[in-house]
Amino acid sequence: MKQYISNKNIILIGMSGVGKTTVGNYVSKKLNMRFIDTDNQIILNTGKAIEDIFNEYGEEYFRVLENQIINNVSIYKRTVISTGGGVVLDKANIYSLKNNGIIFLLKASIDTIFNNLKSNQLSSDRRPLLKGDSNLRNKIKELYKKREKLYFSNADYIIDVNNKSINEVGDEIIYIFNNLYSCS
Ligand code: S3P
Repeated sequence: MKQYISNKNIILIGMSGVGKTTVGNYVSKKLNMRFIDTDNQIILNTGKAIEDIFNEYGEEYFRVLENQIINNVSIYKRTVISTGGGVVLDKANIYSLKNNGIIFLLKASIDTIFNNLKSNQLSSDRRPLLKGDSNLRNKIKELYKKREKLYFSNADYIIDVNNKSINEVGDEIIYIFNNLYSCS
């Protein structure tokens, strides 16, 4: 089988805590592609923590910044793009990302998300929507309920991440991506 090197981007979408950043990093290294995390990019460009952007300017302004970053990175080639959980809220984001990208939804149960976020307190300043003293599980459930349809309807491929290692999830994505662009 001949391998054709694709210029397409790999886009990872899904809720906070499903592993988009770690999986994206793994996939980019294995495929020798560039890696961009849109939240990191927002932090770099503004010099502010995501939580501070939400607190000082509100969610709406964060979404404007997110949309600008998405527009910038959508024209890249051979890049793995890990997105923030709310990227699907704006149709324009998906439209741009699909232009040169294949969208993979990382899907996890509420329990998996809860356990990942609970054990990852360090990054809580990146997730103001899930912050608070109590009831993380309910907050996850509510957010997921609002977004579930958008995640599924915008995904080209759905990857179940429950009980899988980062390498297993990443290798599944790589397998699909390579098969899209191989010819016999
Ligand atoms: C958000 C998810 C976060 C970050 C911001 C908003 C959301 O990214 O973009 O806090 O709306 O779900 P992660 O999905 O990487 O946690």
